[in-house]
Amino acid sequence: MIIRLETKDDYRQVEELTREAFWNQYFPGCDEHYLCHILREHKDFIKELDYVAELDGKVVASIMYSDSFLISEDQEKVHVVSFGPLCVHPDYQRKGIGTALIEKTKLLVEKKNIPAIIIYGDAHNYCKHGFKNGIDYKVSDMNGEYPMGLLVLELRNGFFGNKKWKIKQTDAFYFDQEKALEFDKTFPEKEKKYEYGQEIFKMNIRAFLR
Ligand SMILES: CC(C)(COP(=O)(O)OP(=O)(O)OC[C@H]1O[C@@H](n2cnc3c(N)ncnc32)[C@H](O)[C@@H]1OP(=O)(O)O)[C@@H](O)C(=O)NCCC(=O)NCCS
Repeated sequence: MIIRLETKDDYRQVEELTREAFWNQYFPGCDEHYLCHILREHKDFIKELDYVAELDGKVVASIMYSDSFLISEDQEKVHVVSFGPLCVHPDYQRKGIGTALIEKTKLLVEKKNIPAIIIYGDAHNYCKHGFKNGIDYKVSDMNGEYPMGLLVLELRNGFFGNKKWKIKQTDAFYFDQEKALEFDKTFPEKEKKYEYGQEIFKMNIRAFLR
């Protein structure tokens, strides 16, 4: 397996594999392939952390990062990063590829002296990589709440101290759903289905810790 930077020639392949990986995962259908498409053009996109995994000449996984900001209760503003979408083509999952992409890019983020990686995700996938819930570092969303799915990887020991923080992620994540649906029409038709696992995703973003 080769882990390398994404190139323009990979764009469509990455969007296709992202669609395959996320399809019906979090709601019927998915929109993460559209997010890949627009994120690359966004000012907050971090080109030097845009990695793919290639196996036998085929791109099978992708990770993308964007800039985020932590804002402390005394208005200190600190640059951190977030990743997402992160995905591995369903035919290649559970072989350590997702882990390899996280580990590779985590080292690069550390080298840039960035104190933390902050994401929204399923704890099951990330606690094994050292992520903890935001509440453990007093990192909340912009409403001051601690969603179960808000996860923090501290890269600089003791960085968070005793202050309370809020995380502001890129506005690229809040895109026009109609445009995402239009974009999806450029891919082969695929059945959108309700699956009970989608409820877990809703719980992750709607359940709050105290
Ligand atoms: C989440 C995702 C990126 C993980 O990628 P992955 O390549 O499957 O991840 P890994 O293989 O590193 O780890 C997954 C599991 O396989 C296990 N595993 C890794 N290598 C293995 C091997 N050789 N044999 C058996 N199991 C293995 C890991 O221990 C891990 O087990 P766990 O879930 O019980 O902890 C991938 O499943 C995916 O794309 N999902 C759909 C999109 C998505 O939800 N993205 C994340 C948004 S939060």
